[in-house]
Amino acid sequence: EKGGWPSFMAKEVSEEPEAVANTIRGRVHPGAEGGEVVIPELDGLDELFVGIRHIIVIACGTAAYAGQTGAYAIEQWTRIPVSVELAHEFRYRDPVIGDDTLVVSISQSGETMDTLMAVKYAHEKGAKTLSICNTQGATIPRESDAVIYTHAGPEVAVASTKAFVAQITALYLLALHVGRVRGVLSAAESADHVRELEAIPAKIQRVLDEEQAHIEQFSHWMADTQSVLFLGRHVGYPVALEGALKLKEISYIHAEGFAAGELKHGPIALIEPGQPVFVIVPSPRESAELHKKVVSNIQEIRARGARVIVVAEEGDAAVLPFADEVLRIPLAGPFFEPLLAVVPLHIFAMGLANAKGLDVDQPRNLAKSVTVE
Ligand code: M6R
Repeated sequence: EKGGWPSFMAKEVSEEPEAVANTIRGRVHPGAEGGEVVIPELDGLDELFVGIRHIIVIACGTAAYAGQTGAYAIEQWTRIPVSVELAHEFRYRDPVIGDDTLVVSISQSGETMDTLMAVKYAHEKGAKTLSICNTQGATIPRESDAVIYTHAGPEVAVASTKAFVAQITALYLLALHVGRVRGVLSAAESADHVRELEAIPAKIQRVLDEEQAHIEQFSHWMADTQSVLFLGRHVGYPVALEGALKLKEISYIHAEGFAAGELKHGPIALIEPGQPVFVIVPSPRESAELHKKVVSNIQEIRARGARVIVVAEEGDAAVLPFADEVLRIPLAGPFFEPLLAVVPLHIFAMGLANAKGLDVDQPRNLAKSVTVE
């Protein structure tokens, strides 16, 4: 079943390009400008999308980080306020929701009890519920008003990888569809974003082809590392959280993800000589201001002896003087960078766990699907 791969996780990381491509397939129509998102599962819901005033995304773990990533694009493309919440926190605080709230749940398995209970709660409170799920006919989509299936294929390894990129893809498709229905996006703008999205699978493949051997090599000589930090900003922030979670889960190394802007508010105290820090660098073309700020964060931690591993767009030379390792990702539009930047982090977590001789598919204390609260 592993098809010649050493682990399911290795196989599933290699399937990240097709997880994105398969999730897009059949949902883009030529349209007036050459790219309109049409999601057959959402037929008849246009009125609902016009009426909603608030979107709440609920999920756990990696699915929640996908939600956090997707929220930036949803808010930008639909101009509907979006909040993202861990499912197990959501229903214990009497949230303000009603029939103008759309609760979007995300779950690979569709069986996560925390997420299921949050969906049921939202339903009871009169909200509309839409689930993004990778498992046909699972409980969460059955309990929801609508579903968009991700077509990542079965994910066996406990650590979620290909489902993450498929979930972000589904959220972007939803955002583009709702943005068009509400008249926020023009046909031409939607088509531009669709083209960006359709180019992602080949770009992920390039990251796999060009960086895998390099990352595996340095993850091997990091096998004794005690702690790894991850920094990101804007859409790079949930990517940092995802990189840290993956490392904790499968390599049992302490890891934390931080918003880069938060560094001076505390985390910089952790930096001592030799501390490995991954930094997800925003594109200098898309956001010169954020890029400059993150490069200055890199200088600050480098000056304190951090070992800096940057994930930066091809051609970004500003990071070179301050980086111990540079992992390159192809150019992509502003919201699309996470789909590429996460790939080196998945490879790194797997490389490090392999270097420690651990079972990457079945990490200790964890189950693939958490069906108890
Ligand atoms: O099946 P779900 O997407 O609902 O699972 C949610 C989390 O339990 C899951 O993403 C977990 O965090 C993974 N093990 C992360 O790799």
